[in-house]
Formats: sequence, C-alpha cells, structure tokens
Amino acid sequence: MHICKTISEFRKFRCSLTESKIIFVPTMGALHEGHGSLVQMARQLAGSNGVVAASIFVNPTQFGPNEDFHKYPRPFEQDLANLSRWQADVVFSPSPEEMYPVGTSTSIDPGPLGDSLDGAIRPGHFRGVCTVVAKLLGIVEPTAMILGQKDFQQQRILRQMAMDLNMPVEVITAPTMREPDGVAMSSRNRYLSPDQRARAGAIYQALCRAQDQYRSGMRESAVLQAGMIEQITQAGLEVQYALACHAETLVPYTETAGTPCVLLVAARLGTTRLIDNLLIS
Ligand code: PAF
Repeated sequence: MHICKTISEFRKFRCSLTESKIIFVPTMGALHEGHGSLVQMARQLAGSNGVVAASIFVNPTQFGPNEDFHKYPRPFEQDLANLSRWQADVVFSPSPEEMYPVGTSTSIDPGPLGDSLDGAIRPGHFRGVCTVVAKLLGIVEPTAMILGQKDFQQQRILRQMAMDLNMPVEVITAPTMREPDGVAMSSRNRYLSPDQRARAGAIYQALCRAQDQYRSGMRESAVLQAGMIEQITQAGLEVQYALACHAETLVPYTETAGTPCVLLVAARLGTTRLIDNLLIS
C-alpha cells in the first residue's frame, strides 16, 4: 500500500497508473468496521485492476471553535494497518499546512441543503466539508467516491456539490454499519463511557419504532418526531433534533407521492454528539 503525504507525491503516484478506475473513500481516520465496509465496497467496485484510494485527514475547517478537533482520535499506524487489511492501494494523508497553505482563501458554499439539521447546529461545518472534499477530489481525481449513509446530510450535500459543479465523479452512498445492539458505528463512539454506550442504543430503537409507525400508515411527521424524542429522552440523551424529512430536499416531511422519507436524529450523551438516520423504503 502506497502512502502519500503530499499532493505532489500523490500526483506522481496518480500519473504512474495505467488503470483509469479509481474508487475513493475520504475519511478522517480513527477507522472502524464501518469504514472497512466502504473500503471493501471500493475494492469490489475497483476489481483487481482498479485502484482503491483512501484519505486520512482530520479537516480543521469543518470543526467549530468549541468542537473536538484537538481531541479527535488519530491512531495513524492502526488506521494504516486496517486500510492495508481492507486492501486499499494508496492512502493520502496530508498535513493541515499541505491542504491549507497560508493564503488559502476560497471555500465552497454548501447551498440551502446545508442550512438545516447539522448545518444549523454546527455553523460552517458543511462549508468546511464541501471545501475539503472538493480539494481532495481535485487531488485524487477518482472515478467514484464512496460515502457512508450515516452522515446522511453530508452525502446529500456532497452529491449535490458534485452535480452542481460538474465534477466528473460518481457519488455512491453505502449503508450504515451497526453494532449488535443497533448503534451506528462511529469514530466518536469511543468517547462514550460504558454507561453512556449502553444507553446509546435508544437512538436506533426510536428510529426503528418510528419506521414501524410509518410503515403502519402514520404520515404525520409531528407524531413520528414526538415518539422519537420521547424514547430518546427517556434513555437520558439530550435530543438536538429528531425529524422526518424528505430525503432529497431535507425539508420536513409531508406526504407527497413518490418521495422517500428519512428519519434523522442528533442527540448528545454528555459531551459526545451522536447522529443516525433511517431511510424508509
Ligand atoms: O465524514 C467524514 O469523515 C468527513 O466529513 C470527510 C467526508 C472525510 C471530510 O472531511
């Protein structure tokens, strides 16, 4: 597995390739089996001749001033071992200075999809995400990029960005990987105490119950939302939002033929913020 720490190293590697299929998985490291499923999907799509590229970069511009940028886990050697086990071919892991040299001034506006949900709670977050992913795509030049469904709003915004800015990349969304009790795999789960970890399952349980209600015919988003809030709050979590939204526009759900509904939750357990969602089919 090649490791490139600078843009010029990566470009040199890129120029040496004869195969044009490059499947890219952007990450911030602290990798878990959820990332593993994305890299393994990339491996399958790339086949034995194609190239699987991953990036490890804790992007400072997507963290707010009071967020966990400095304490975000950086187990670099373990991440490399995992990427190698999942059969990645190349890893791009630049420094913040490499990605944002002094004088960098351009950023990408995520548009209205970035105004609600996490965008409202974490001002500037999606501007940072769009900017770094646009830069990574400009460096890696993949044919396809794989994103996890767990960050539902992120994958929706990045798909829109790629389309609006005519980026020649296919955006693929991969299913959320879950622990046996249903908790969505996340690098931030490692912040949870054993007691908090035991209570975190309430989010998925609430999502599943709302999904059952929806499948039984309930279409009033206020009812779905109230049920989720009650169940998650009872487990001792602080709900930031629990919403039924249109999967494409991310606006609150109202019954309209043919448009899928996504249930989205963000909740805090102590100082840890967890998000999860279910796309109702
Ligand atoms: O989901 C993440 O890990 C990050 O937001 C991403 C897409 C790698 C951009 O920094």
